[in-house]
Amino acid sequence: HGNAGVTVIHAGTMIDTEAGTTQTDQYIVIENGKIRDVLSERAYQRLEQPNHFIDLSDMTVLPGLSDSHAHLIGKAANYGYNSLAESTPRAAITGVANAKVTLEAGFTTIRNVGAPGFADIDLRNAIDDGDIPGPRIIPAGRSIGITGGHCDNNLLPFEYEQIAGGVADGPWAVRTKVRENKKYGAEVIKFCGTGGVLSKGTSIGAQQFSAEEMKAIVDEAHQLGMKVAVHAHGSKGIQTAIEAGVDSVEHASMITDESIRLAIQKGTALSMDVYVSDYILSEGEAAGILPESLEKERQVGKAQRERFQAAAKSGAKIAYGTDAGVYPHGLNGRQFAYMVKWGLTPMQAIQSATIVNAKLFDREGQIGVIKSGAYADIIAVDTNPLENIRALEDVDFVMKNGTVYRNATDG
Ligand code: ARG
Repeated sequence: HGNAGVTVIHAGTMIDTEAGTTQTDQYIVIENGKIRDVLSERAYQRLEQPNHFIDLSDMTVLPGLSDSHAHLIGKAANYGYNSLAESTPRAAITGVANAKVTLEAGFTTIRNVGAPGFADIDLRNAIDDGDIPGPRIIPAGRSIGITGGHCDNNLLPFEYEQIAGGVADGPWAVRTKVRENKKYGAEVIKFCGTGGVLSKGTSIGAQQFSAEEMKAIVDEAHQLGMKVAVHAHGSKGIQTAIEAGVDSVEHASMITDESIRLAIQKGTALSMDVYVSDYILSEGEAAGILPESLEKERQVGKAQRERFQAAAKSGAKIAYGTDAGVYPHGLNGRQFAYMVKWGLTPMQAIQSATIVNAKLFDREGQIGVIKSGAYADIIAVDTNPLENIRALEDVDFVMKNGTVYRNATDG
């Protein structure tokens, strides 16, 4: 699909994510990969003839979606000991396919919060160079974690001397990890502040890293111009990380009312993956998940949705983050219906995947909006998602940076 010259999209219904409203019959003028103008029908009549015209007059058009928590590198749902058989180059090749299906599902930007061997940096570069299709990627490089923690690899016995690349203990050692990530191209820092579901031998309730180490990570990352995302399920780790100044809490499963209040006060985003539990509990066992992980998921899944509801009702900043990779890529849109079931309006859920993430990613005005100056990242669905949020599970049209990657519309 060529994107030279001027392209105009006729949007029958258009969602204005900033105003939280819809408009009808808008004409989106695209040039050089960006949105030049959004015109009414009358203003459009006076425009010169565009080079390309895309008729989405019977569709609902919205900005490209984003996911604040994905893992594109590696085979999805590759749990437990199965994961040990995958080399980093092989995982990167799978990442190429994962990037394509993610983009085709309407997710035009993702944060990749942890990957082996900096493969996420190369994936981003290959996409930006135009070699392969994929979303805009904000990569974290290696997740930083304590020895034996959720971001380490604890599957093998001592004699294998297996230590994940992001493991460091102590304030200066973690600063070095932040600097190393930056050196090799990371744009965001991810660290593990509690145990996790899918890691062996970690407890979801136990804090990982001291307050001092967390503050060192945040200070170093912010000094270098990067935001910080913390993996945290248990309440103590969540509270300590928010106090340390993280920009988003991932999972946030057992977040207390006190921590919700502090997050609101400090502007900390909550990236709560409320869909993935259903996938883990239905598919995990057959896919080789560790029995202890299944047990942990049974404790955390329902609780997380209840805490999500509390956070949503309090008006906390909810980032749209799904942990894609734990479930197959391209199904990122499934979480919308869960967020609506557990307390957000459809508009708020859409804002979470657009303007809230844009702010968290430091890309305000560039992504998550259809207005002059933003990247031409535009999607369309045949059913208005404000009437049926599940429409976002099946996106019919995807444009990124002015190039069309999917067009399953009749027009
Ligand atoms: N990667 C996460 C972990 O291992 C997945 C947690 C998924 N469960 C959930 N209820 N969100 O901890």
